[in-house]
Amino acid sequence: MNSAPLLDVKDLTVVYPDGTRALDKVSFSLLPGEILGVIGESGSGKSTLGLSILKILPEKSEMRGTVTYGERSILKMKENELRDIRGKEIGMVFQDTLSAFDPLVRIGRQIVERSVGDSSIGYREASAKALGIMQSLGVTYPESRLRSFPHELSGGLRQRSFITMTMFQDPKIIIMDEPTTALDVIAQIQLVDLIKTLRGKGMSIIFITHDIVLASTFCDKLLILYSGRVMEFGRTSQLIDAPANPYTEGLISATPTLSNLDSGLRPMKGVLPSHKSMPAGCRFWPRCLYVQEICRSEEPPMTTLPGDRVSACHFAQKVLNR
Ligand SMILES: Nc1ncnc2c1ncn2[C@@H]1O[C@H](COP(=O)(O)OP(=O)(O)OP(=O)(O)O)[C@@H](O)[C@H]1O
Ligand code: SF4
Ligand SMILES: [Mg+2]
Repeated sequence: MNSAPLLDVKDLTVVYPDGTRALDKVSFSLLPGEILGVIGESGSGKSTLGLSILKILPEKSEMRGTVTYGERSILKMKENELRDIRGKEIGMVFQDTLSAFDPLVRIGRQIVERSVGDSSIGYREASAKALGIMQSLGVTYPESRLRSFPHELSGGLRQRSFITMTMFQDPKIIIMDEPTTALDVIAQIQLVDLIKTLRGKGMSIIFITHDIVLASTFCDKLLILYSGRVMEFGRTSQLIDAPANPYTEGLISATPTLSNLDSGLRPMKGVLPSHKSMPAGCRFWPRCLYVQEICRSEEPPMTTLPGDRVSACHFAQKVLNR
């Protein structure tokens, strides 16, 4: 595998026009052919991260830091340069697919028209390609789905249609924002199989989800977000087998699996803090089982640990060795 990152994000900070600091110095990198799971509870900044990579935030949002795609700085690109990147180089499956589709245009036309417009392939060939992708996602009666309007499809079918539209352009990176929420278990398995196939072809995927257990079954690396900050980042096996951050540990024990349903499921107490009253020090301290005095006043630095992983915890090494 090529070791130069395809996407390199450094100290990315995003402040929405109303002052909400949705991301705070987020850093990570993505290699070609790598699947990165972005994990966090609702409001942790997952969608904001996806939207920032494509620079599609509301007007007057503030973005600091760097987002480098190959050798190019996305944050410095002009709108016309960004139009060439969006979809063709980096595609995104949005969390809300109903508003992402044009409600007045049939699904098939929305999927096929862009590439036919680019005159790279003809209409017939494009339709066959769209049908093939839909079939690999387990969509039944794909021809009739392509003739439907977005509101005529169930959430799961619309999500898979949007995935088809995104994959259709063969981007180098696909960002999928909660792509499995409206899918039943069989459709989830089909999507995960497809994602693995795409990785085999060298495509990189950013898979956004609140489900750390699902992500751990196929993601190469995990980025754990909490209230806009990276809590931990590293290889999936490292984080799951031996978390170096109490929040990662909490997420693992709070997510239902077949083995912990009877005995080991331990829901985390409390909720994400409001952006208007962020606790001083480590923002996770009011919920942390291992909180110490220093956590309430000093923000933990990002500690680099053996194996090229990082954790934002004053006691990262201790948590790891437990
Ligand atoms: N357009 C916006 N203006 C102001 N604040 C926003 C905006 N969009 C999101 N936020 C806030 O930014 C924070 C991060 O939101 P984001 O949607 O990125 O979280 P998320 O992790 O994707 O959550 P979910 O799991 O619910 O989709 C939240 O506090 C949210 O309320
Ligand atoms: S810095 Fe303190 S409060 Fe934060 S995760 Fe580590 S132990 Fe918990
Ligand atoms: Mg979201």
